[in-house]
Amino acid sequence: MGQNSLTITDNRTGKTYELPIEHGAIRAADLRAIKTDPDDFGLMSYDPAFMNTASCSSRITMIDGDKGILLYRGYPVEQLAERANFLEVAYLLIYGELPTTTQLAQWIHEITHHTMIHENVKKFIDGFHYDAHPMGILVSTVAALSTFYPDARQVNDAKSRELQIRRLIAKMPTLAAFAYRHRMGLPYAYPDNDLSYCGNFLNMLFRMSESKYAPNPILERALDVLFILHADHEQNCSTSAMRTAGSSQTDPYSAVAAATAALYGPLHGGANEAVLHMLREIGSTNRIPDYIKRVKAGELKLMGFGHRVYKNYDPRAKIIKKVADSVFEVTGRSDLLDIALELERIALQDDYFIGRKLYPNVDFYSGIIYEAMGFPISMFTVLFAIPRTAGWLAQWLELVNDAEQKIARPRQIYLGPARRDFVAITERG
Ligand code: CMC
Repeated sequence: MGQNSLTITDNRTGKTYELPIEHGAIRAADLRAIKTDPDDFGLMSYDPAFMNTASCSSRITMIDGDKGILLYRGYPVEQLAERANFLEVAYLLIYGELPTTTQLAQWIHEITHHTMIHENVKKFIDGFHYDAHPMGILVSTVAALSTFYPDARQVNDAKSRELQIRRLIAKMPTLAAFAYRHRMGLPYAYPDNDLSYCGNFLNMLFRMSESKYAPNPILERALDVLFILHADHEQNCSTSAMRTAGSSQTDPYSAVAAATAALYGPLHGGANEAVLHMLREIGSTNRIPDYIKRVKAGELKLMGFGHRVYKNYDPRAKIIKKVADSVFEVTGRSDLLDIALELERIALQDDYFIGRKLYPNVDFYSGIIYEAMGFPISMFTVLFAIPRTAGWLAQWLELVNDAEQKIARPRQIYLGPARRDFVAITERG
């Protein structure tokens, strides 16, 4: 088989096997040939939390975690954040190339004209308790959209997929904004087709009695950059949920609901919300050393720090720090920024964090910006879900078109009781 192979000797049998290596990986299914006898199921690999298992091949996003590099379709995220807008990046993620002027204009037109949601969705949102978390509302309403678009079940129809992709990217901000307005007890504000993607989102969130809402251009651009930074991140928890749900050929609204639910957790997209609670709990810079002590004692985690893949500064966090400056020029500086900067300074000099390669991630500074822009904490993860929808859909499209993919169905190592007979309740104990 030559050099691109792995030779394994099974010491249970003394037999030797040669497995091909492709793209730095062996195929786990090849291990099944390694058996102690013909009835043996064959060797499996055990990898809880997928620490070292590639579940797909992908051409969308590349992360070099040691070097702190993030590329979308080959383009560095720093260049995209500086020179592109979010819908241009969404197009790039989904179609693989940056759009031409005509393609971009058409794409923006189509997304803009799909922002409305059925009036019944409003009634559905009305049914939520007054203090319902907007992520709970978002998970439910995006799932509910599948009932409004039964054509979305035609996942093998390319035309239908294209339509659902446009609807989802267009309607997520509307659902998110309506969830916010419900929580605030405000009337819903309808989309304004004259505004940009982010400008319209700000309109649906913050418009009061004015007949035409004019977003602040600096805040509009800051949000657009934050959306670019959150658009995709290869096979993270929510994207894996999207692919797993999508692999059963469920419709994309239901799959996005699964992905949104995965994002909600504090170890994933919920971390931006957790960071704000943490910074408020710390309250002042002189209480940071005590907090760090508790983190090092294993009592708590430093939220917004650490990453499964990045063992270096998260490149997104670097850009977000710059965005913060432009936002604070408009909104005024947040007191929490000083706590965050000092927390970062102390942590990055501490052996606990250095040894474990724990650096600030995307969520460390984003919440401070969102707060300064007037978003309540409960909206932070929603602000992550909106742009990540583009990434989820790009990954879903790749999955649907990948002839090697099948329904996701991991194996397990069963360690429970062997077969035993039922015991009547009177004879138990
Ligand atoms: N604070 C303190 N210690 C930490 C932290 C942290 N934030 N993160 C990791 N560690 C320690 C961990 O206790 C372990 O120590 P030890 O080797 O002594 O047991 C070591 O570092 C390795 O951590 P791990 O838990 O094995 O790493 P993981 O890859 O399983 O977890 C993570 C990655 C992001 C879930 C984790 O770093 C974490 O919980 N961070 C805080 C939550 C957070 O900020 N999440 C946002 C991630 S970025 C945005 C996104 O993708 O959603």
